[in-house]
Amino acid sequence: MRVLVTGGAGFIGSNFVRFALERHPDWRITVLDKLTYAGNLANLDDIRDRIGFVRGDIANRSDVEPLVSDCDLLINFAAETHVDRSILWADDFVRTDILGTYVLLEAARQHRLHRFIQISTDEVYGSAVTGSFTEESPLNPRNPYSASKAGADRLAFAYFVTHNVPVIITRCSNNYGPYQHPEKFIPLCITNALEDQPLPIYGDGRQVRDWIHVLDHCDALDFLIAHGQPGETYNIAGGQEHENIHIARTILETLGKPPSLIRHVADRPGHDRRYSLNTDKLARLGWHPQRQLQDGLRETIEWYRRHRSWWQPIKSGPFRDYYKKQYGSRLSASLP
Ligand code: NAD
Ligand code: DAU
Repeated sequence: MRVLVTGGAGFIGSNFVRFALERHPDWRITVLDKLTYAGNLANLDDIRDRIGFVRGDIANRSDVEPLVSDCDLLINFAAETHVDRSILWADDFVRTDILGTYVLLEAARQHRLHRFIQISTDEVYGSAVTGSFTEESPLNPRNPYSASKAGADRLAFAYFVTHNVPVIITRCSNNYGPYQHPEKFIPLCITNALEDQPLPIYGDGRQVRDWIHVLDHCDALDFLIAHGQPGETYNIAGGQEHENIHIARTILETLGKPPSLIRHVADRPGHDRRYSLNTDKLARLGWHPQRQLQDGLRETIEWYRRHRSWWQPIKSGPFRDYYKKQYGSRLSASLP
């Protein structure tokens, strides 16, 4: 199988490539990645000589066309992914997440691929006040990131219906694990705690996310590549809903750091209170997550403790300006 992984130098993409090489040594994998601030070739260091790598933009036809014409399976992880950044500036989100997906789908339409996997997100459903969303629930994205992802999600479906592109859409809950950029909540809390810096908690910290280990997500994707039906959408989740404040306290406790590092800061505008997925459809096919958050989080904390050389250069680079803009006044206005 010739496999094109877009966004393969990011968090989930790089974990997927490593997982796929192990599971399918016969796959010929090429990564297409723009290497934005979130893409990092260091994520692929240990497997670099076993894959092809092309630096390019999914929204650029001339980057995409030759690669799509030479693949059987395309997995589109490439996206702008951080909600907070989409609130500051949404231009890149619309361009990559919507236009980029369109360019990939157009190329896929010209070539007979075996599967086109569109990595969508649980955020497209919006906030779950009660109960859990099924794949039939209406979409109600509420921030520029999730709205862009919802656009891509429905565009992919439209290319299945209209042009018969063999699209499978997956909507996964919050991932955690190694190689996640320190802008995201869990790695931000871990790395700040390791540096004895405050942990910024938006609002009351009682927002709920359903956490899944990234390798469970990779396993679910591999399962759907084999068993999913074109034209179908599948929810994927860890089934482990927790309030953010609980996660932050657990991280501090595990690292032996004081709870006084927690700082409640001004909330994210339009902050979705809770995400929750019904995963019966995937369970009926026979897939279940394997990892408990308790164990996965401990391992993840350990990974960041041992891989300072991975995250320190990120945190001391251009990320510092972003951090100042995003948290500077919020933290100075907060009480210890
Ligand atoms: P990430 O930000 O870590 O990685 C994104 C990757 O895409 C980076 O390597 C970046 O360089 C690349 N990229 C960005 N724009 C590009 C472009 N125009 N052309 C080519 N490459 C480009 O993101 P992630 O957390 O690994 O998420 C991967 C996918 O999974 C995204 O589609 C995201 O929406 C989806 N998702 C993420 C989560 C999560 O919890 N992280 C949950 C559900 C779905
Ligand atoms: O649900 C899937 C989505 O999960 C993916 O589609 C997105 O790409 C991914 O970024 C993630 O979005 P979230 O907004 O849920 O993740 P984030 O890590 O930014 O935040 C998790 C929760 O923690 C959320 O309720 C906001 C809160 N938070 C986040 C940060 C960065 C804080 O309280 N403080 C922070 O500093």
